Amino acid sequence: MMKTTREYFNSYADRWDEVNRYDEPPEEFRKLVDLAGAGLGSCIVDLGCGTGVFIPFLLDAVGGTGTIYAVDIAEKMLARLKSRYDFKNVIPIAAQAGDMEGVGGKVDAIICFSSFPHFDDKAAVIKKVARILRSGGRFLIAHFSTREEINEFHSRQDYPVCNHYLPDLGEMKALLEGRGLSIIHYRNKDGRYELLSSKRE
Ligand SMILES: C[S@@+](CC[C@H](N)C(=O)[O-])C[C@H]1O[C@@H](n2cnc3c(N)ncnc32)[C@H](O)[C@@H]1O
Repeated sequence: MMKTTREYFNSYADRWDEVNRYDEPPEEFRKLVDLAGAGLGSCIVDLGCGTGVFIPFLLDAVGGTGTIYAVDIAEKMLARLKSRYDFKNVIPIAAQAGDMEGVGGKVDAIICFSSFPHFDDKAAVIKKVARILRSGGRFLIAHFSTREEINEFHSRQDYPVCNHYLPDLGEMKALLEGRGLSIIHYRNKDGRYELLSSKRE
């Protein structure tokens, strides 16, 4: 039987932190938190959060008065996250990125770190992102690899990840601008992919 994306990531949950190690220093994560504009007291969605590699950096930025919604389709990844970050202001939500059911009110920023290529219905995700972001809020898609490196890596993985891809800039621009999100920063070089957009006022 072929696995769904949820089954695929659930099957990795127990060993995710061993097989998916990031060698980058903390400053590289902090740079992304800054790029997303996550500040004291803000409300952030970590979309496709997995076991929570980004959570400590977000917690540092938003402090005790901020809120972090940790959203993932794979409940076993979230179970790991919950066992590591049992904080009142970290709210784990098992949901499709296109639904984000349970994320309350308007949010200041949404970060997809190493997750966007895995979303089956990217148009639905961007539609939802645009709906829950406040005006001027930021949407960041980031990887510690270039687009070409990510797509090549995924093409060598098992189904369904072999079909998961990061669209080119033209496709992303059409998806984002069609929903009122303007691209304000783009980098795809030197082992980094960063696409930052902001919801028009
Ligand atoms: C490559 S992992 C990255 C996890 C984490 N951000 C990290 O860097 O360790 C991608 C994550 O996206 C989640 N995911 C995939 N498709 C999803 C969807 N449609 N909605 C929500 N989460 C999804 C997976 O379950 C997985 O935890």
